[in-house]
Amino acid sequence: MVSSCGKKKEEVITQLNEPLPPLVFPIDNPIWKEKVELGKALFFDRLLSRDSTISCSSCHFPQFAYSDTIPISKGAHGRIGFRNAPALFNLAWKPRLFKDGGVRNLELQVLAPLLEPNEMDFGSEELLNRLEKSDEYISLFSKAFDSLPTLKLAVQALASFERTLIYNESKFDRFLRNEVILLEEELIGMRLFYSPELACSSCHKGVLFTDFQYHDIGMPPSEDVGRYRVSLDSLDKFKFETPSLKAVSLSAPYMHDGSIKDLRAVVDWYNQAAEVRKTKDKRIRALNLNSSEKDALVAFLNCL
Ligand code: HEC
Ligand code: HEC
Repeated sequence: MVSSCGKKKEEVITQLNEPLPPLVFPIDNPIWKEKVELGKALFFDRLLSRDSTISCSSCHFPQFAYSDTIPISKGAHGRIGFRNAPALFNLAWKPRLFKDGGVRNLELQVLAPLLEPNEMDFGSEELLNRLEKSDEYISLFSKAFDSLPTLKLAVQALASFERTLIYNESKFDRFLRNEVILLEEELIGMRLFYSPELACSSCHKGVLFTDFQYHDIGMPPSEDVGRYRVSLDSLDKFKFETPSLKAVSLSAPYMHDGSIKDLRAVVDWYNQAAEVRKTKDKRIRALNLNSSEKDALVAFLNCL
């Protein structure tokens, strides 16, 4: 992937506010306004599921950082999936997608929920049929691509829309730009977060608060073996992607299975760090935080 400027149509994103680096997109799918508008229409359209009951936004709610509010999302036909739907902010910079890194880029990702029986359960031919019959989509494709609907262009448009879901206006972003100051409690939380003892920032690092790696932080064992599903390397069992903590206050419940209900409970969980397996990452260990330190850490997380 490169950051390039294939000029065509009206380009949308030229300049981002600090602290994010320049926007990244594949050379064969540059971003322009009409393409993003088509992608947005598709994202919110229930036409995309077999029984026309769910859209992408049924599990990725805009008001909750494009995440879901329940642990495991209901799919098409009310069937149950198996992971918590994550926030969809700042995806342009992610080297791989899904909690096990099973998908390499947004163009490939788009097809996964469409075809997944537990999610939208939709054949590609059916989708194309529906798009070709819709005057609205004929017009949107024409504006975006000077073309009739095709599956490839729909995928490109959805991926482009997803790349424009950018969040760098949190209190902490503005603090880094010297636009606001943090409260005393938030500053205490910040020092704890970046302290070597807690080591939060050794995994949740950089401006996106992730190292883009997979770790076993000792969540209770379940059928979901995480990164192992993709790598088949036994050392990867129960490893999950380090989630970005941007807008984390909006994306409850937490963890791959949505099993932790709020940020205070996440901090309590890290504080106790039960010894579930020998293979658990050594940085995750009991922290002995008192109640006001836990509050401070939560206050800091709420700024991200
Ligand atoms: C039934 C609920 C559901 C629907 C509908 C759904 N998603 Fe998701 N989405 C999920 C879940 C659950 C995950 C986490 C999957 C995983 O990590 O294995 C996910 C993951 C993603 C990711 C990866 C994010 C990351 O950080 O790795 C993207 C991007 C995404 N969805 C976009 C979409 C788009 C676009 C659509 C519509 C075409 C869609 N989703 C429809 C539940 C859903
Ligand atoms: C060894 C790397 C590592 C360290 C150290 C670490 N985390 Fe995490 N964190 C992860 C991983 C991996 C997950 C996802 C686990 C899952 O999905 O089951 C996670 C999940 C979270 C979540 C939930 C986010 C979400 O969207 O579900 C929060 C909040 C969080 N960590 C905060 C912290 C804090 C605060 C600290 C320091 C006390 C910390 N982390 C230390 C790797 C780490």
